[in-house]
Order: sequence, then C-alpha cells, then structure tokens
Amino acid sequence: MIKAVLPPSLAKLQTTDRNVPENVVKMVSQFTKDVKERLLPEIPSQNRLQWENSLEQELTPILVKLGKHHEISLRGSIKGAYYMKHVLEDTSIDPEEKLRLVLGMAVQDIGKARIPLEILDKPGKLSLEEYRLVMQHVPFGLSILQDYPFLKKQLGFAIAEHHLRWEFGKGRQSPGGSMVNICDELDAATTKDRDYYRKPKTFEKVLQEFKDGVHSGTYCFEAVNIFSQGMKGLTSCYPTDFL
Ligand SMILES: [Fe+2]
Repeated sequence: MIKAVLPPSLAKLQTTDRNVPENVVKMVSQFTKDVKERLLPEIPSQNRLQWENSLEQELTPILVKLGKHHEISLRGSIKGAYYMKHVLEDTSIDPEEKLRLVLGMAVQDIGKARIPLEILDKPGKLSLEEYRLVMQHVPFGLSILQDYPFLKKQLGFAIAEHHLRWEFGKGRQSPGGSMVNICDELDAATTKDRDYYRKPKTFEKVLQEFKDGVHSGTYCFEAVNIFSQGMKGLTSCYPTDFL
C-alpha cells in the first residue's frame, strides 16, 4: 500500500535501509507527493525539472535523515510546511517564492539531525550550555546544504534566518525568514511534544502574540498579516492520519 506512492529515492532507501521508521517514510512521501502535485505545476516550466530532481534526489533523503534521528523534529517541520502552504494559498505571492517558503519551512531544522537526542528529548528546561548546543543546528543545517548548491541557494535563507528577529527590517532577517520563523513558532507553541516544559497554546493566543511582536520589531508586519488571515478558523491543515 505505502510502496505504491513512494518516490523512487524512498523506495530505494527502503530496500537498502530497513531502519527507517514507517511513519517517517509516510510523512516524507506524502509531503513530497503534495508538493509535486500542487506546487510544482505552478512554477515556470524551465525551472520545474531542477526543482523536481532536487526534491526527489536531495531533499527527500535529507528529510528522511532528520526523521530517522528525531521524528518529532521532522513532524514539526512538515506540519509547519503544510501551514505555510495553506496560508500562502490565497496570496498573490509568486509561485516559485511560495515553493521556497514551503520547502524552506520543511528544511529549517535539518541541522537537528546532528544534535544529541538526550538534549532534543530533555524533559525540562535546557541549561544555557545545552541551549547553545541546540542552536548549533543552524550552522549544522547550513553545512548539510553545502553539498547541494541549488538547495543552498534556494532554501539557505530559511535555515540561516529562522531564529533571527525582524528588527523592523533593519536586521539580517528577510520577510521570508520572518515567515519561516513565525511558522516554526506557531507549530512549536501549539504542539504538545515540541516544547516539553510549556503547555500548548491555542492558535488565537499565538497569533495575538505575533501581532504584539510586530510592535516590538520581533516579526515582520506583512508576514504576521499573512498568517493572521490564512489561519482564521483553522484547527489543522495537514494529513492527520500520520501527523
Ligand atoms: Fe530551529
């Protein structure tokens, strides 16, 4: 049943690596299938093949590697990518930029594949030293993309900027980076297993915090506006059978 929808790289991986959890295969294959069917057809035909090849041969194995190491991190990234896709749907943003934002959300935390599980799964609050180690997932993620120049050029911003602040547009974060930052925080703050010492908040509460954060320069106004409009009345927008 699952094998029927597997992209070739995942099917090959399953025959060579029996240790990939079935849930990880399901999440990555469903996500890549949705991207191929719903986002790729919208982008200019001359760029489509490169995106498709990169999705199949580069992004898929990278996401599987993250999921194999820490399934919760992969789930958060993919759920976030579905949120991103949903909020962008009714906007006039260029289709290729939409693709960058959705895939950027999917890869922002890939560096966590190199962070020890004792820290990623620690039940209490992290010490300063542990927090610093977790934040190494940003340079680790960028170094993983070193081997994939196309992906690095297209999606590197998401990794590099997803823990920065908007700083009223005067800092190092682009509007796209603020979008990924908001999307990541939205999922983390509303999900039980992503932040062990905090109670999950409602979408409404988190969206209000984003609006408040515009005034302090934490988030980009346009980015918050896109999420406020796109998330209205929403409780979930991802395939709930496996997420
Ligand atoms: Fe992160």
